[in-house]
Amino acid sequence: VDKSSQRLTIAIQKSGRLSTESIALLQACGFRFSLHEARLLAHSSNQPVDLLRVRDDDIPGLVMDGVVDLGLVGENVLEEVRLERKATNISYDFTRLRALEFGQCRLSIAVPKEDNYQGLADLQGKRIATTYPYLLQNYLQQQGISASNAILTGSVEVAPRAGLADAICDLVSTGATLEANGLIEKEVIFRSQAQLIQRPGSLPAAKQAIVDQLLPRIDGVQMAKE
Ligand code: PRP
Ligand code: ZN
Ligand code: MG
Repeated sequence: VDKSSQRLTIAIQKSGRLSTESIALLQACGFRFSLHEARLLAHSSNQPVDLLRVRDDDIPGLVMDGVVDLGLVGENVLEEVRLERKATNISYDFTRLRALEFGQCRLSIAVPKEDNYQGLADLQGKRIATTYPYLLQNYLQQQGISASNAILTGSVEVAPRAGLADAICDLVSTGATLEANGLIEKEVIFRSQAQLIQRPGSLPAAKQAIVDQLLPRIDGVQMAKE
């Protein structure tokens, strides 16, 4: 990445729940991109803006480290990375520019439907599979429950059936994944939607001018949808 570049770099999720709407929002704001499936970087044809398409989990760190200027990312991933960096003494500064009205989901604890779950106390001493160990432990600590993690980066929903965990803590959007895996949502621990974030420190004037132009357009697009 060329730090002296006057092109504004925006990180978005390459493939996943936020990808289509992230691109649609930027296009609705007037940025034109030609996207090639295989390419990580896409240049706007009408603005000094580059899109960097990466895994959503990497976006908060890229922004906090100033590798990219802006990022569109779910609050769930953002908060998890913030807690992890805080706990491990890595800088976690960023500026939240806008809450975006897509990517709504919740991070919930779910248990097998045949379990006679009565409440959080039932999770005491149990093992919970998750991709979000910091958000989960933060919540359990507040609730006075001690449970261990089984950290999985994917396929969390199969962990109980596979005998890897007693419960899971994962994102729920429609609920179809839980349903398909015989799980029932019991506790919502975090509510999330997409966020537009900016790297710490001030931007060079040319980049700031693009951001100043982008924000009212986002507001306009979001207003028009209501
Ligand atoms: C989440 C979660 C489930 C699914 C739940 O994954 O891990 O797999 O969405 O959605 P549903 O309730 O509509 O079935 P996500 O798409 O965020 O991708 P990732 O886990 O690869 O980051
Ligand atoms: Zn992810
Ligand atoms: Mg998933």
